[in-house]
Amino acid sequence: MAGYFREGTIAEVRERANIVDVISNYVSLQKVGKNYKGLCPFHSEKTPSFTVNEERQIFHCFGCGTGGDVFRFLMKMDHLSFPDVVRGLAEKHGVNIPRIKLSDADQKIFLRREKLFDLNNLVSGYYHNVLINEDGGEKAREYLKNRGIGDHTIVLHRMGYARDGWDGLLNFLSKKGFLLPLAEEVGLIIRKKVKGFYDRFRGRIIFPIIDSHDKVIGFGGRSLGDTPPKYLNSPESFIYNKRNSLYGLNVAKDFIRSADNVIIVEGYFDLLSLNECGIKNVVALLGTAITQNHITALKRYTKNMIITFDADEAGKKAAIRSLNIFLNLDISPKIATLPSGLDPDSLIKEVGEEGFKKIITSSTPLMEFVIEESIRKNDLSSVEGKKNVIQEIVPILTKIDNKIERDLYAQEVSSRLGVREDTIFKQFSSDRKEGVDLQRQGVRLMGEDLAERILLQLILLKDKVIHRIQEEGIIGEFSNKHYREIGLLLLSVFNRDGKVDSGKVISLLEDEDSRSLISQLLLEEESIIDFQKTLENCICKVRMNKIKAERKIIALKIKEAQERKDEAYLRECIISRQNLLNKERDYKQAFSHLNG
Ligand code: CTP
Ligand code: MN
Repeated sequence: MAGYFREGTIAEVRERANIVDVISNYVSLQKVGKNYKGLCPFHSEKTPSFTVNEERQIFHCFGCGTGGDVFRFLMKMDHLSFPDVVRGLAEKHGVNIPRIKLSDADQKIFLRREKLFDLNNLVSGYYHNVLINEDGGEKAREYLKNRGIGDHTIVLHRMGYARDGWDGLLNFLSKKGFLLPLAEEVGLIIRKKVKGFYDRFRGRIIFPIIDSHDKVIGFGGRSLGDTPPKYLNSPESFIYNKRNSLYGLNVAKDFIRSADNVIIVEGYFDLLSLNECGIKNVVALLGTAITQNHITALKRYTKNMIITFDADEAGKKAAIRSLNIFLNLDISPKIATLPSGLDPDSLIKEVGEEGFKKIITSSTPLMEFVIEESIRKNDLSSVEGKKNVIQEIVPILTKIDNKIERDLYAQEVSSRLGVREDTIFKQFSSDRKEGVDLQRQGVRLMGEDLAERILLQLILLKDKVIHRIQEEGIIGEFSNKHYREIGLLLLSVFNRDGKVDSGKVISLLEDEDSRSLISQLLLEEESIIDFQKTLENCICKVRMNKIKAERKIIALKIKEAQERKDEAYLRECIISRQNLLNKERDYKQAFSHLNG
């Protein structure tokens, strides 16, 4: 991302812009100690937890965790891309940006995309005009009125109508003949076998698909009558990929941010009907299952996502399948289950606005739903049935990053099945064979990573300690994967630059959680008094925790060996346990020596 600009340019812009001045345009800041504080613009709060530090040129909100540098702030605040923010600030502060860094090939791609966007924009205007003003549009206006879609919504989404003829759009475009090859490229017109073109969309309501930068990337078209197919869409093209795109995001993004919540529906009309009820934090899929790219796009605005699914078997299956994708991106979504056979559009017509809102507010965590489904499908009176449930649920549980959440679900499963919690955790450990990192799970169940966190903080605050940390190789032993990754990144920055420039690190990080962690570590009230002692203590603690975790795993193995009556394995395990106990004793001694 930063590749568009020279590093020096970015640093210069950051310095000249001064984060305190920039943020003051949006948030009223008050100096408190060496920081500035104000009410966070990214979530609603009554006492200020939004903190800006001038010296380090970073911000962090201790309420919602958002943090970063001045570029991140503006990207999030104004929904701009990184290059746009850099250019904007550079211009304002008189920083000269050396002529566009795009390679010739990139430049070509950029221009080609712009041309296609312009064409689509022109075309959406044409269809929109037909729908609202022109002859031939009456049928469509009538149709939409019957489905409860009002003018305001039509304008909001720039909906249109394609007349029922072969050459409406073609004639419109022919006046600018140079557009025809472009229109063919994005599938708006189709080449005839012999000569000329014809319109793709005929006799259809047109939904322009508009991205978050307000570019029209494609079109959907619904037939007015029963002529199949019900929907006809733009083909995938250089600028349109339905697995990356969401319908309605252009309208929804501000609402999603202010509601801190998004509802994901399946169809165009579901979204429109919700809009009609005043529910605007909605996006619709475009005929695909939900993908990682969809979730990543939404994560820019909120972490709270609600999916709506038809309660039939196919709908349930799709919902269950999507859970893994969400969890991989650290989102714990909720699900609003709709009565079988109804989509949100038809449901609203049955139960009314209030009824629908009730269903949304009573949506349940998808994880809970998946557990319920698994329990429903299996016969819990049999051992086999219980085993199935454990085997279905545990691999999903291991993906939940939040320890408290994960443990609560594990408890829930154990009490629902009437099996001991150990049995569930044992499955955690046997999942290792299927590639789950047992060591890591074991440690995470103990949740002892404060020492690791403090070590990261030491690296950020005191360059001096880094040599010692490197010498011990302690980062590689971290149990918390996220901390480990960040730690290794910081070390690599140090080895390259000879120091850890926190501003630079923050601008390098694409991932929001990592940025948030670093800005928080940097801005927390400094409570570390004796750096040297803290350093040694933490190293010792990390090692002790590791041993504790290993002992827990060994205990499980010993039990397993006893159950299997596997004498050889049992002996082996007991020896390992003794070794661990010895090591633990040594560390305990060292620790009390340090602090004695
Ligand atoms: N879809 C599609 N092509 C189809 C059918 C569906 O692209 N032949 C996509 C559309 O984006 C559609 C969504 O899948 O909005 C959901 O399909 P469906 O539930 O069948 O349509 P609805 O949106 O409910 O439309 P309507 O209420 O008009 O039947
Ligand atoms: Mn429908």
